[in-house]
Amino acid sequence: MSRDDEAIAILRENDRGTFSVPTKGLYPFQWNWDSAFASLGYAHLDPARAVRELKTLAAAQWTDGMIPHIIFHSNDDGYFPGPDVWGSGHAVPTSGITQPPVLAIAAERLLARGALGGADLAGLVEAIDRWHRWFQIARRDPDTGAIAVIHPWESGRDNLPDWDGPLEAVDASNVAPFQRRDLGHVDAAMRPTKEQYERYIALVEFGRSVAWNQAAMPEKSPFFVADPGMTAILARAETALATLAEAAGRLDLAAKANERAQALRAGMDRLWSDEVAAYTTRDVRTGKRGTAVSAASFLGFLAGGLPPERAAALNAHFDRMAEACRYMCPSWDPAAPDFDEKRYWRGPVWLVVNWLIAMGLAERGDAARAERVRADSAALVKNGGFYEYYSPLDGAPLGGGSFTWTAAAWLDFAKGAGDGTH
Ligand code: SER
Repeated sequence: MSRDDEAIAILRENDRGTFSVPTKGLYPFQWNWDSAFASLGYAHLDPARAVRELKTLAAAQWTDGMIPHIIFHSNDDGYFPGPDVWGSGHAVPTSGITQPPVLAIAAERLLARGALGGADLAGLVEAIDRWHRWFQIARRDPDTGAIAVIHPWESGRDNLPDWDGPLEAVDASNVAPFQRRDLGHVDAAMRPTKEQYERYIALVEFGRSVAWNQAAMPEKSPFFVADPGMTAILARAETALATLAEAAGRLDLAAKANERAQALRAGMDRLWSDEVAAYTTRDVRTGKRGTAVSAASFLGFLAGGLPPERAAALNAHFDRMAEACRYMCPSWDPAAPDFDEKRYWRGPVWLVVNWLIAMGLAERGDAARAERVRADSAALVKNGGFYEYYSPLDGAPLGGGSFTWTAAAWLDFAKGAGDGTH
């Protein structure tokens, strides 16, 4: 079977009719940013199905505007923490946090392919506008104007070393014993540690204790960390929203989205670390900064409007890492002491992050680096199949298999022209 045929088979296998699961077993529900990427895969098979994916995601929006990170359309004991642990109190149960806002970026691409219009477009514009405004109320770092996360899971990059320091302030001593389910699907060496999981659950319990009052989180959450990944993705998502809103005749919303994009780019700039010479995280509580370059640093290109000296510094890191790694882009600097080529977000390459980094590089006019990222992504899939993530050093496929977003990233981005049948 060609890689194209395999990708299509995976998208069909993980299709639940109105939404997709990231991969059966390990992640048996609808995940927010997975779904946005999945729609771009479905766009190559069935444009109406691609739009349906985004509409199902938007339909889970809370009344406050948040679009949650997991939507539990059905029960499945194979995942922890399930709907009872989250206790979000919604008719279709959800988690109580959000995830990187890729939705508008996906919708913009569906619009460009001619797959989105009419009432579907108008409805998505309304939902995305409300969600993007929610970030400013519930997730804004007041000191920088960047976007902060109240849980590592919210960033999508769960066990990034940048979260280690801020997580130390999270008291997990009262968390009752629980059974992880991820380790029944994936080798423990590729997943977060027990200590990290206990703190993840303590943060879920904190959310429940304030009845998921999102507007109160910036004040009350024991974990609140500004994230260049979230900030850059939202900045680009705002320009995508502006395009969508213009197409829907909502010039009022387009203007506001462009204003917010500008403010987010300014916030991103304040996440520049002179010490690391890159964008890094910032603990809102302590002001402490992330200690090394991560893949999110390169998402600075996606935010757009980079001053030339910032771009030059990022390019230097990129070129250094491209020497050290056979496959770009590692999720954490291979020169950092806590780099771990196999452990989830502490080193491995993720194709969807590459998809976003390459988009930013291409939009900046850096065709050569964008092509390096694409070609490495293609090689990972050609050699290793459709896994959750890969070693940046030898390309070993890691984590879950038959992964929806990796299949989608292959079809929509990685395979390139004439690259699909080997
Ligand atoms: N990625 C988290 C998990 O592994 C949740 O989003 O369960």
